[in-house]
Amino acid sequence: MKLPKRVSLCEVGTRDGFQIEPDWIPTDLKVEVVDRLSATGVPKIEVTSFVSPKAIPALRDAAEVMSRITRRPGTVYAALVPNDKGAVRAVDAGVDVLHTVLSASESHNLANVNMTIDESLGKLRAAFEVAHRANKPVYCGISCTFGCPFETEVPLPNLERVVRALVDMGARGIGLADTTGMTNPVAVQRTIEHLLPRFPGIEWTLHTHDTRAMAIPNIIAAMELGVTNLDASIGGLGGCPYAPGASGNVCSEDLVHCLHAMGVETGIDLPAYIETSRRVQEIIGRVLPGQIAKAGPWDRRYPVPDGVAARRPA
Ligand code: COA
Ligand code: ZN
Repeated sequence: MKLPKRVSLCEVGTRDGFQIEPDWIPTDLKVEVVDRLSATGVPKIEVTSFVSPKAIPALRDAAEVMSRITRRPGTVYAALVPNDKGAVRAVDAGVDVLHTVLSASESHNLANVNMTIDESLGKLRAAFEVAHRANKPVYCGISCTFGCPFETEVPLPNLERVVRALVDMGARGIGLADTTGMTNPVAVQRTIEHLLPRFPGIEWTLHTHDTRAMAIPNIIAAMELGVTNLDASIGGLGGCPYAPGASGNVCSEDLVHCLHAMGVETGIDLPAYIETSRRVQEIIGRVLPGQIAKAGPWDRRYPVPDGVAARRPA
């Protein structure tokens, strides 16, 4: 396999995950999770989102979270914004980079941000102006890149048009998001092979949900074509409240374990990540889908059963 030597993870659990938790997570616990995450060495954290508190009440304390976390040198702290109002709030709160949200599907974009794609592009143009004035890079996530729960197919020309518009506005990177886990490795490669040569100089991210157990195969397919930025969420938290059927993102510690087992570096302390995942499960009071926190790493060694050692040929 042709895999990169090193990839860069962005932890999105405190945004994509915490946004749909039904019970209020106190601000100090959100801060604790972000600080534990940065201590694992994960290079980027999508801490929260600056969206309408009516749309996402669970993250209405975004500015307070940003003001109370301990900024670890070397960690990039990002937040999601849907419009210029969000960009102003995010810049005021001191984020390092802005992540914007927009869907490649009209139906999902209307459901998620109450705008047509062109209306969203207008708001994002204004958000870019805010970011440029503040000298903050902008990375643009595109929901439903590979399919939409309302429309099923998202034609490639529609996706390309959205990417073109965002690149023309000055996007540093584009995040291809499989919001409801609809895609497969072959389709991922088809999309990436189409887009990458058309937009040189762009940093590409794959944002996966493991709704249909295809997230890690999809990530490996993208890595084979040179995509080295990956979103993942601790424990496999996550889901879009405005996309029926959306379940958690690919689980960060499962992905890190898989990458390390294949010899791909992440710079992340895996045992510390697993500990943090256990802490998150304690905070939300629920077992999460991640497998490695339960199974342990592949080289976990169990005690040899009675009598087996004595009979083992030398
Ligand atoms: N942060 C905080 N408040 C915001 C905001 C932002 N980024 N953008 C708009 N608002 C406020 C407005 O000031 C207005 O407040 P008011 O009712 O007190 O006057 C209210 O929200 C409605 O604003 P409007 O521009 O009419 O937006 P809307 O109701 O059509 O909602 C969005 C549009 C984009 C703000 C909203 O749908 C949203 O935040 N969606 C995010 C969805 C999301 O995060 N999904 C999951 C991530 S994929
Ligand atoms: Zn997502």
